[in-house]
Amino acid sequence: MEMANLGKLKVLILGSGGREHALLKACLKSPKVSEVIVAPGNGGMALEARCLNVDLTKPADILNLVRKQGIEFVIVGPEIPLAHGVVDVLEAAGILTYGPLLAGARLEASKAFSKDFLFRHKIPTASSQTFQKLDAAVEYIRHQSLPIVIKASGLAAGKGVVIATTLAEAEQALRDMMQTKIFGSSGDEVVIEEFMQGEEASIMLMVCGEEYLMLPPSQDHKRVGEGDTGLNTGGMGAYAPTTVVTPEVERRLREEIIVPTLKGLKADGIDYRGTLYVGIMVTSTGPRVVEFNVRFGDPECQVLLPLLETDPVEIMLAIAAGTFRSSNAQLRSGSTIIVVLAAGGYPGDIRKGDEIKLPANCPADVHIIHSGTQRLADGRVVTAGGRVLGVVAHAATLSEAAQKAYRIIPTIQFEGMHYRRDIGYRQLKRNAGK
Ligand SMILES: Nc1ncnc2c1ncn2[C@@H]1O[C@H](COP(=O)(O)OP(=O)(O)O)[C@@H](O)[C@H]1O
Ligand SMILES: [Mg+2]
Repeated sequence: MEMANLGKLKVLILGSGGREHALLKACLKSPKVSEVIVAPGNGGMALEARCLNVDLTKPADILNLVRKQGIEFVIVGPEIPLAHGVVDVLEAAGILTYGPLLAGARLEASKAFSKDFLFRHKIPTASSQTFQKLDAAVEYIRHQSLPIVIKASGLAAGKGVVIATTLAEAEQALRDMMQTKIFGSSGDEVVIEEFMQGEEASIMLMVCGEEYLMLPPSQDHKRVGEGDTGLNTGGMGAYAPTTVVTPEVERRLREEIIVPTLKGLKADGIDYRGTLYVGIMVTSTGPRVVEFNVRFGDPECQVLLPLLETDPVEIMLAIAAGTFRSSNAQLRSGSTIIVVLAAGGYPGDIRKGDEIKLPANCPADVHIIHSGTQRLADGRVVTAGGRVLGVVAHAATLSEAAQKAYRIIPTIQFEGMHYRRDIGYRQLKRNAGK
């Protein structure tokens, strides 16, 4: 990739989760990077880089920070700053930035917009209708089959989707979103969708217009309990690659979903550069889109970056500059897993401020990624969020990676810590041929 002329750059990573800690680790390893700053960062990132405070909803504040610190390249982790147009503001000021412009970010910020995009470009997805009026939405569900999926159209931090198995439940979800406004203006519009049966996979694409690199398909584990039971969370673990995406599913995914999506974006005048996350359901009739996100998944990012042979920073720089060629990017073999260690009470009311005990060192290919942690003035690191840490391991096979990750967990301690002991179980079962 034609980035050699740029030399080493001073980089800013926006965000404060495990995804951003994984991005920080990639930056610290990269020969392209002279220095990294994180804003706002977390307790683990504070041990490895300078963390500065910034309001991620204020692009002008971010630009000020970039100018003051002499930042030359910005990597945007989460969706919030993207939905506030941070890339538009930074690019207009001549700052190289990894992440889509506002026009592209709408694919995640508005589910109504993304469904309209999918239908217009004839990309396989659940049939759906969008409503702004409660009465019309309630009337509509009476004539639909169950279960039915009710989605707040706007951003809702992964909490805005209800899979209703009864009409009463569906109506309650509509009232919560459209009348009580439990997600604020994100519930002004709702998408009501057909329920798709199948197994989900996360497809992460690093996109530069119509050029793209597909990272290995991965699977998240959204439920808090083993065997995918209990409440929904931000994600209790992930692994990659997953063979639920068979070669045949991958062929159809590329032909029927990825290529039409990138062509559709171009046809709509959207020059998309950044990560495009395609959530798919592998159904009996082929892969279908569940949703788009416009950034790396968390925790998927943590298992995907270690599967890149090519420096991820080099890829992101080339994409930001519009010079990326997928033929120049190489993947690494093997499997990765992340097991999330959550705070007591998560995903409900959580404990905070408990001291975290970490092992003095980790074996090669095992990393402890921080999410909800904070570093106190006295140097102690304490819990500060629902998902506290993630243990990432890479090995030749998933079962070896899982063994490596689970072996280190007993050396990590904080009050109330809990985690799933079955991350990757679907794939391990497939591998065992059951
Ligand atoms: N049409 C659908 N059929 C079946 N399950 C769905 C459907 N839409 C969403 N889901 C389930 O709900 C989860 C959350 O929905 P998604 O559209 O990804 O919204 P978000 O990630 O913004 O909460 C999905 O990961 C999937 O498990
Ligand atoms: Mg989702």
